[in-house]
This record gives sequence, C-alpha cells and structure tokens, in this order.
Amino acid sequence: MGRDRKLRLGASIHGVGSSHTAWRHPRIPSDASVSIPFYTGQARKAEEGKLDFVFVADGLYINEKSIPHFLNRFEPITILSALAAVTSKIGLVGTLSTSYSEPFTVARQFASIDHISGGRAGWNVVTSPLEGTALNFGRLEHPSHPERYRIAEEYLEVAKGLWDSWEDDAFIRDKESGVFFDPAKLHRLNHEGEYFSVQGPLNIARSRQGQPVVFQAGSSDSGRTLAAKTADAIFTGPESIEEAKSFYKDVKWRAAEYGRSPDDILIFPGIGPIVGDTEEEAERKYREIAELVTPEKALEYLGRYFEHHDFSQYPLDEPFPELGDFGSNSFRSTTDRIKQRAKEQNLTLRQVALQEATPRTAFIGTPEKVADLLQQWFEEEAADGFIVGASVPGGLDDFVDLVVPILRERGLFRSEYEADTLRGNLGIPVPVNRYTRVREKAEALK
Ligand SMILES: Cc1cc2nc3c(=O)[nH]c(=O)nc-3n(C[C@H](O)[C@H](O)[C@H](O)COP(=O)(O)O)c2cc1C
Repeated sequence: MGRDRKLRLGASIHGVGSSHTAWRHPRIPSDASVSIPFYTGQARKAEEGKLDFVFVADGLYINEKSIPHFLNRFEPITILSALAAVTSKIGLVGTLSTSYSEPFTVARQFASIDHISGGRAGWNVVTSPLEGTALNFGRLEHPSHPERYRIAEEYLEVAKGLWDSWEDDAFIRDKESGVFFDPAKLHRLNHEGEYFSVQGPLNIARSRQGQPVVFQAGSSDSGRTLAAKTADAIFTGPESIEEAKSFYKDVKWRAAEYGRSPDDILIFPGIGPIVGDTEEEAERKYREIAELVTPEKALEYLGRYFEHHDFSQYPLDEPFPELGDFGSNSFRSTTDRIKQRAKEQNLTLRQVALQEATPRTAFIGTPEKVADLLQQWFEEEAADGFIVGASVPGGLDDFVDLVVPILRERGLFRSEYEADTLRGNLGIPVPVNRYTRVREKAEALK
C-alpha cells in the first residue's frame, strides 16, 4: 500500500437488531428502531470513540415475515439529518437504492445533508435485492441482478455529474453589484443515457468535502465491479479472514484494472463483535441473544434472502434443500454462499437456518482478543477498517469503551479526529470539480 495505512471504523445503528427476536432481550428498548433518543445516543457514543462514521441501512419492501427492525424504522436521509444536528465530527452514511429512485432527487438529498452536516455525508449505494419492491413503486417487474447494476452505474455517473453543477467559487453574492453567481461557473450535465435523461444543473452547490463519500454494499461479481469503478469504499460480510483477504485482493485488483490506485477504495467488512471481561461473559452474552431464536423464526430469517421463500415446507433435520438458481436474482452473493456452504459441510436445514439467524463470528471474547483479531485482519490486508454492528445490547458501548482504547494504545486508531469532514477523516481526497479541472488544464496550456 502506498500511503501510511490507518484503521477506519464505522458503527452501524440498527434499532432493535438484526434478528427476529433480539427485541425481546430485557436490555433492548423495544421501540429502538423509531427512537430518536436511541439513535442520538448511539451516534454520540460512536463520536465519543472518534469513529469515522455511523451507518444507517435500509430496504424498501416488507411483509409479515420481515424482522421487527424492518417493519417500523427510520428512513436513512431523514434520521441522518437529525443526527447531523447533534454531532459535529462523525461521518453520516445512509443507504439509498438506485433501482427505485431518481438521480436528480437523490443527488440533491445527499448534497443537502452534506451541507447540513458540514461535509460529513456518505451514500451507501445498493440496488435493492427483493423482488417485491417493484410492487411498492408501480413497476411491473423487478429489474434483474445484472440490469440493476447497469442502472446503478449510470445512476452514479449522473449523480456525480450533478454534484459538480457549480464550481466551488460560483456563488459571488456581491450585494453591492447585485451579482449572485458567475454564470461561467454553472454547468448543465445534459446526460442522455440508456436509463436516465437528466439536464441539470443541480440546485445546490458542492459542500466542504466536494462530494459525498460513495460506499457500495454488493459483494457479487457485478457489485465488486461497480465498487471498483466508482466507489470510495465497499461494505462486505466475509465469514473468515481467508475469505476477507481474497475479497480485499480482488477488489483492489479490480480498482487497478480501472486505472485507479488500490488505495482509492477502502474495504470495510461488517462485524458484530461481542465483548466480555472474560471469555465466559462474552459467551454468555452471545447465548442470551441466540437462545431467543426459535427454529421457526430462524427459517423466516433465512427465507428473506430467498425472496421470502417458505422453508417450513421442508424437513428441518434433513440436508439443506436443493434450490437450483433460486435466490440469485436477489441477495446473490449471500445466497450463493449459503448454498455452497450447506453443500460443502453437508448441513441440515436447521443448521443452515440457525447459522444465519444466530451467526457466531470469530469476534467474540475479551477486549484483547477482539483487538488482536482486528489488528490481524488489518495488518494482513483483509480489511482497511470495519463496520461494527451491535449484535448484543450495549454492543457499541462495549466496543467503544473496551476495544477502541486498546487499538489506540497500539497506535492503530486515532485519539482525535484529524478533520471535521468524512473525507478528511477517511483520508480520501476532495475531488476537484470536473469543469474547474478542464479550465485549469486549458489555462496551463496557454
Ligand atoms: C455492512 C453491510 C451493509 C449493507 N447494507 C445494505 C442495505 O442497507 N441495504 C441493502 O439492500 N443491502 C445492504 N447490504 C448488501 C446486501 O447484504 C447484499 O449483499 C446486496 O444487497 C446484494 O447485492 P449482491 O448480490 O451484489 O451481493 C449490506 C451489506 C453489508 C456487508
């Protein structure tokens, strides 16, 4: 790696949790997914730990089988706007789907939140896995997996183009002369593509960090390619350090293939650390959450990845059913992994469902053990940073209070924010406005 690598950390705020049953734990507020005090508290805790960003995930289709957090939760842009007002340094990253929105609106919303927060916004670009989403947007069909990624690529091109509508010094605001802006520094995109036709300009200027930071969360071949071409960072969910290393290498290699530096894309595995003063305490915390999960709820959890498939029709203790291509048009990388592992390890349906619903990651144990693992993953290039989800109540507090200080002592993580923009803290340069760059090049040639 070219530059001095620094560990980056984000915190995922996920209301009542990522399972059907975590909300029943006595220490989880049962309305956390729509609680401003809960979201504010988590964001402030993450900022106290000097984490790079908080992250709010999203989806656009629910039914009776969805996990409780999905049934009743905040829309990311609006909750992040509220969090912008109660924090000052931490980045604010939210998911928004390119399959069910318009680039003009979304570019404007993210530019707006980038101003509201003083340059701390980030957009997690996803393509919406669930077919049912089409029913909520008056569409006859959910676009296929490859088409969703083609749409996403053009969409990002449009959004980034719109973000450059105004050069940085375009607004003169001279009361004396009455000149509000310099028309030479206002630009129309005039995009005509396969999926979008957008004239521009956007009705908001660039922020202090130039453009919001672009994250991407698909791990399939198309997801990796999109990220390698266009994103500043990618989220991924590897199950082992070996898998993480191979993903890391692959995405960095792809970025180089597209003429970028491997340093231009940061790789963030999602982890759900469970920390206890002793191994036994950490283990107890895991069991408290895992034991709330019934086989029935585990089947529903698994079903979501396969278009809410009804797994209760199969015998629980026989080999995982043969599903053919099923699931590959939705959560492709996840369903491929589930099917492959079931086959390789000869797992029953019950085993697969419980593994998914109560994942037992490596990051369980004492603060030192978790810090050791983070250090190893970082130093062996399995990760540039981590996105930390709270899998147990108080999970973020434990991470900030017990693990972060160890990382700091070891010189791996910051004691103070380096900057007050998300780009500044992540070490990602501010992109020069494309029109300014052309003008400056032309002037240099004169
Ligand atoms: C940390 C993390 C956060 C994610 N957040 C979202 C999200 O908010 N919404 C979403 O639809 N997918 C999200 N995903 C991605 C999905 O799990 C899934 O990989 C993707 O939607 C399907 O794309 P793929 O087939 O390219 O993998 C996230 C993944 C990770 C690892």
